[in-house]
Amino acid sequence: MDLSFPPGFVWGTATSAYQIEGATGEDGRGESIWDRFAATPGNIRGGDTGSVASDHYHRWREDIAIMRRLNVPAYRFSIAWPRILPAGSGRINQTGLDFYDRLIDGLLEAGIEPYPTFFHWDLPQPLEDAGGWRVRSTVDAFAEYAAAVVGRLGDRVGNWLTINEPFVAAFLGHEEGIHAPGHHSTTEALDVSHHLLLAHARAVEAVRTAGASRVGIPLNVLPQVPRSSHPADVAVARYADGRHNRLYLDSLAGRGYPEDMVAATGWRQKVVLNGDLDAIAVPCDMLGVNYYNRVIHAAPEVSDAERPDPVLEERNEHTEMGWEVYPEGLYDTLARVDAEYEFGPLLVSENGAAYGVEPVGGRVADEARRSFLHRHLVQVHRAIADGVTIGGYFAWSLLDNFEWDRGYSMRFGLVHVDYDDLSRTIKDSGEWYSGVVARNAVPPLED
Ligand code: FCB
Repeated sequence: MDLSFPPGFVWGTATSAYQIEGATGEDGRGESIWDRFAATPGNIRGGDTGSVASDHYHRWREDIAIMRRLNVPAYRFSIAWPRILPAGSGRINQTGLDFYDRLIDGLLEAGIEPYPTFFHWDLPQPLEDAGGWRVRSTVDAFAEYAAAVVGRLGDRVGNWLTINEPFVAAFLGHEEGIHAPGHHSTTEALDVSHHLLLAHARAVEAVRTAGASRVGIPLNVLPQVPRSSHPADVAVARYADGRHNRLYLDSLAGRGYPEDMVAATGWRQKVVLNGDLDAIAVPCDMLGVNYYNRVIHAAPEVSDAERPDPVLEERNEHTEMGWEVYPEGLYDTLARVDAEYEFGPLLVSENGAAYGVEPVGGRVADEARRSFLHRHLVQVHRAIADGVTIGGYFAWSLLDNFEWDRGYSMRFGLVHVDYDDLSRTIKDSGEWYSGVVARNAVPPLED
């Protein structure tokens, strides 16, 4: 028997501006930190940049037609701040707003519900030059941007997402240095993280001021598990959970920053001012959960011989990102967030896999992605059956696109993009997903 999802469950696909739009120099768009970072040799695999990407800026009508053809009723995308305020603050570029205005109208005409995200990492470069997310003035600039966006588009948007994966923007960008702006400082990452959370609160305020839309933040909550019960492994996994998950979940839930995390990093919280933690804990209408994999942590000084119980190994199956395929982790994550916090309805705001399969005779036979999606949806269904309130699921991604530091080498799309002629081909996984949406159900796995 099919595994049915609740009536009204929202099915969607997801993308982000820098990853798909291209046209980085058109219609008055300013420079973003990703333009600068990608233009710097050595940062992106193959020297790729987002200057053309999937050319969505020019092909958005065709992309809406594809969504319609797939019959997927919701679409999560992000708005490019540098298109709206080329200098980050100050002058509003109406031409930039026009693009999203037309996109939203086009989606609504096609019967597709827009789920825009305010910030998916493409900070205007002039703001970075003035201190980026390390300084509080960027939060004020963001509030200005959010107000401009809501002012123009808010009348037609019922669901907003604020800051995509603050963990990634803060830590991959400022501690690990593999994302823009490419810095290496834990304190900086923590300061940035605080400012991103404050920006989230300001976006919530902007949305609420404008009317009755629903708003939430998409976090990437990944299980951080110890390799064994050896105390050193447990400690490493606990630290990773603090850095990756609790820093955000706890503060958004009004519990402040996790003490173990603050102590372990020695973060002096100079940027945290009176009232900030209350502001960050503003109640939202939903919480987005982006899920890709679990991460197993082993303390480097411990050998397997010293580990008390059988060691936990990653499974053999990995996507091309090198990420373990672990569908149960999606269940574990949804169940954990539901059990430990009270955020209201959850939304799986991203889930997907990179497999590079090319068209043969007009068909893209990406069975591995279909199977990945199927197994993860079974876990979403299981969480719902166990009483977790989950409002929807967004497959990452509608289109093959620019996968950050990996450039175009990673293909996450339900729709293949030929980077020579930019033509689109719906993959088998896209056809399969379309069938799931039509039936509001997935077949059981044995089928
Ligand atoms: C997430 C990002 C998204 C995409 C996927 C693969 O962390 O939000 O932009 O890169 O990973």
